[in-house]
Amino acid sequence: MKSTGPDPVNLLLLPFICLSVFHHLPVVSSKTEVPSFPDEALPTKSGYLTVNSTTGSAIFYAFYEAQEPISQLSRTPLLIWLQGGPGCSSMVGNFIELGPWRVNFHKAKSDPLVLESNSGSWNRIFGLLFLDNPIGAGFSIASTPEEIPRDQHSVAKHLYAAITSFIEQDPSFKFRPIYITGESYAGKYVPAIGYYTVQKNAQSPVSERVNLAGVAIGNGLTDPLIQVGTHAVNAYFSGLIDEMQKSELEKAQWEAVKLTKARNWTEAANARTRVLDLLGEMTGLATLYDFTRKEPYKTELVTQFLQNKEVKRALGVNETLVFEDCSEIVGDALHEDVMKSVKYMVEFLVKKTKVLLYQGHFDLRDGVVSTEAWMKTMKWEGIHEFLMTERKVWKENGLLAGYVRKAGNLSQVVVLGAGHLVPTDQALNSQAMIEDWVLERRLFGPQQGEDLSSEFRGCL
Ligand SMILES: *[C@@H]1O[C@H](CO)[C@@H](O)[C@H](O)[C@H]1NC(C)=O
Ligand SMILES: *[C@@H]1O[C@H](CO)[C@@H](O)[C@H](O)[C@H]1NC(C)=O
Ligand SMILES: *[C@@H]1O[C@H](CO)[C@@H](O)[C@H](O)[C@H]1NC(C)=O
Ligand SMILES: *[C@@H]1O[C@H](CO)[C@@H](O)[C@H](O)[C@H]1NC(C)=O
Repeated sequence: MKSTGPDPVNLLLLPFICLSVFHHLPVVSSKTEVPSFPDEALPTKSGYLTVNSTTGSAIFYAFYEAQEPISQLSRTPLLIWLQGGPGCSSMVGNFIELGPWRVNFHKAKSDPLVLESNSGSWNRIFGLLFLDNPIGAGFSIASTPEEIPRDQHSVAKHLYAAITSFIEQDPSFKFRPIYITGESYAGKYVPAIGYYTVQKNAQSPVSERVNLAGVAIGNGLTDPLIQVGTHAVNAYFSGLIDEMQKSELEKAQWEAVKLTKARNWTEAANARTRVLDLLGEMTGLATLYDFTRKEPYKTELVTQFLQNKEVKRALGVNETLVFEDCSEIVGDALHEDVMKSVKYMVEFLVKKTKVLLYQGHFDLRDGVVSTEAWMKTMKWEGIHEFLMTERKVWKENGLLAGYVRKAGNLSQVVVLGAGHLVPTDQALNSQAMIEDWVLERRLFGPQQGEDLSSEFRGCL
C-alpha cells in the first residue's frame, strides 16, 4: 500500500524536536531517540537471501518461529507474508500489522517510539516469514535498477529463489507446509509465486519440491479490469457520493477500462490513479483504505523506527541503507504491471491448493465488492457451487466478527471492523481467521454446516 494524505506523524513529533533545540541540548534527530530492540522482540533470525549470485541482489527476510507450536516444529506450518504497493516493505506488515511486536507511540515524551507485543500475531502457532519483495523494496537489495522486476513472472522467479534458499538454510524446514499470504498489491505477488511454485514442483523431483499448502490474499488487487469498475457503485450505495458524482466517477472508471482493454498499460494505470484520486476528493476521507478512519494508518512509524542504526544492526542490515516504507523506484518499475490481471493464476491455483480471499469491510480500494466482482467471473468449475454456498456468520467469543463462505478449495472472509490493513484493525480476529483456515477447523472445517461459532476459544 502507499500512504495517502497528510503525514500526521511528523506533525506530532515536531514538539519533541523543538523542545530539544530550545533547551540547547545537542540536536538529536527524532530518529536516534528510538529505543534499541529489546532482545525478546528480535526475530528468530533475519538477514538476506540471494536471488542472483552473479549480481548479488538479495531479498531481506525476518523470521519469527511459532511461539506456542501445537505440533513438532518440523511439521509446523510456515506463513510467508508479502506486502503490497507495489514497492512497500513487509516490515510494515511486521511492525504495525501481524508481527509479534508492533511499533507505537510511547506515552512518555522522551521516548517517542516503543515496541508493544501483539497478542494477535500470526506467529502464535505458526512460523512467520516476512520477505521484502521485490528487490529494491524495504531492506532488500537491487544491485542495479534494471534488475528490479517489471512483471509478475520476474517477481515470482526472485521469490522462488529466496524461499528455496531460506528452506535450504535449515533442513528441518523441508517438510513444513508453506502458506503464502499477503495484502493489497500482493494480490498479484501471491498468485504469481503460487503459480510459479506449482509449475516448478511439477518439473522437480520430490526431494526438491516446495511444500506449498495454500495461498491467502487480503484486500487484494488481482483482476484490475473488473475491480476498477466497482468504486462508483460501492461508494454510492455506501452513501459516500451522490448520483452526479457517481456518473463522473463512472466516466473515469470507463476510461481506465478502455485503456486496459487497449493494453495501453501506462495510461491505464494512470487512469486508475485518477479514479482513486477523484474518489478521495469527492468523499474527503482521510484515507480510502478505511472510510471510518479520521487519519491515515501510521505506516510512517515503521519508517522512523527502521531508520535507527541500532535497529538496523539488530536486524542484520547495513547501517548505511536508507529505509522507506514504500519505494517509488520499485513502484515505477511495476507501473505497467498495475492493470494486468493474474486471475488466471488464481483459477489455476484453486485446482491445486487452497485459496483464501479475505477483505476488511471498510476498505474502499480493494474491498469486499471489488473482490466479489472478479471472483464471480472466475473460470473454474467450482465457482457455481461457491456462489450457491451459504455465507456463514462468524463470531468470536459470541461477538460478530464477519462472514465466511467456503466451497472446496476456495474460501472468502469478510472481516468486520477492519479496513485495508486487516491485522492492524482486528488483530485477534485476523489471527483466529488465519489459524482456522490453515488448520481447517470451525467455519473452515469439515463440519462447517454445524454452528460452532459460539465455541469459546481458550486462547483469547
Ligand atoms: C542474474 O543476473 C544476470 C545479470 O543481470 C543475468 O544475466 C542472469 O540471467 C541472472 N540470473 C538469474 C538466475 O536470474
Ligand atoms: C495510450 O493512451 C494515450 C491516451 O489516450 C494515447 O495518447 C497514447 O497514444 C496511447 N498509447 C498507445 C501505445 O496506444
Ligand atoms: C555497508 O555499506 C557500505 C556502503 O555500501 C560499505 O562501505 C560497508 O562496508 C558496509 N558495511 C558492512 C558491515 O557490510
Ligand atoms: C483442492 O486442492 C487439493 C490440494 O490441496 C487438490 O488435490 C484438489 O485437487 C483440489 N480440489 C479441486 C476440486 O480442485
